Amino acid sequence: MALVPFDDRDGVIWMDGVMVPWREAKLHVLSHGLHYASGVFEGERSYSGNVFKLREHTDRLIASGRILGFEIPYSAEQIDAACQEVLAANGLEDGYVRPIAWRGSEQLSVSGQQTRIHLAIACWAWPNLFGDDRLSRMRGVRLGMAPWKRPHPETAPTASKAAGLYMIGTMSKHAVEAEGYDDALMLDWRGRVAEATGANIFFVLDGEVHTPTPDCFLDGITRRTVMSLARRHQMKVVERVIMPEEMARATEVFLAGTAAEVTPVREIAGQAYTPGAITETLLRDYEALVRMAPEEVVRQEASRAAA
Ligand SMILES: Cc1ncc(COP(=O)(O)O)c(C=O)c1O
Repeated sequence: MALVPFDDRDGVIWMDGVMVPWREAKLHVLSHGLHYASGVFEGERSYSGNVFKLREHTDRLIASGRILGFEIPYSAEQIDAACQEVLAANGLEDGYVRPIAWRGSEQLSVSGQQTRIHLAIACWAWPNLFGDDRLSRMRGVRLGMAPWKRPHPETAPTASKAAGLYMIGTMSKHAVEAEGYDDALMLDWRGRVAEATGANIFFVLDGEVHTPTPDCFLDGITRRTVMSLARRHQMKVVERVIMPEEMARATEVFLAGTAAEVTPVREIAGQAYTPGAITETLLRDYEALVRMAPEEVVRQEASRAAA
């Protein structure tokens, strides 16, 4: 399918507090964010008109900026409202929402203290990253091993959804796409299993749901949601160090992320897996949860936590 370029679409983009016609949402080429990757972003999904876990995404966006040393000049309430407004202005009920904050063009040197902080929020229709419908998604995706590693938290702002960190993901994804894979599985600098380029990973081992401890990569909002769904089914959920040698023993593997939702994995670098009942249960539960009213999501999760 031919891509419609992202700078040549109809609609509006929220930019620094105003709705701007899509094609006019521009920034200067000498922006600090472009040269020094001083930018942070979010990836959110709206279902039936509600952005799923909007406040968690907004809080993470603000926290990501603070990790990079800047304060986004809008409150969480204002950012939440802007996300919903831009969806409505584009007539989207189901869509992907992309807030991004970056340092402007007032100063162009490694130091960027004099820059103004900008915020833009765009949205567009975007079905699941790996397939439009459940049947095609249940076939599963193929992961190759990334040639790059997730860095040590003292060498990169790994808790931030910082634009600069995605350079590693893009290089990794391009490398495995060249071998015909759908996505890359990344190890961390110690050689432990970390995550895919835009989603967390889960393994079913001895009937239990295991996932790597997120000590140098995002503790995804979907990851935490899926862990809570699994516990609701009395599944044992284990967060721990996972070494690549253990992956062969898994009976099911799946990814979890806002864009990927719950996506089964059918191969990791030559090792085959059959998407199974645990993955399908969690995929269905997630599909149902995201379509509930936000108050209902909070209620469900609170009752689960208390159980
Ligand atoms: C690198 C990376 N890891 C994990 C995730 C999953 O995070 P979330 O579930 O909060 O979308 C994402 C997506 O944002 C990501 O880009």
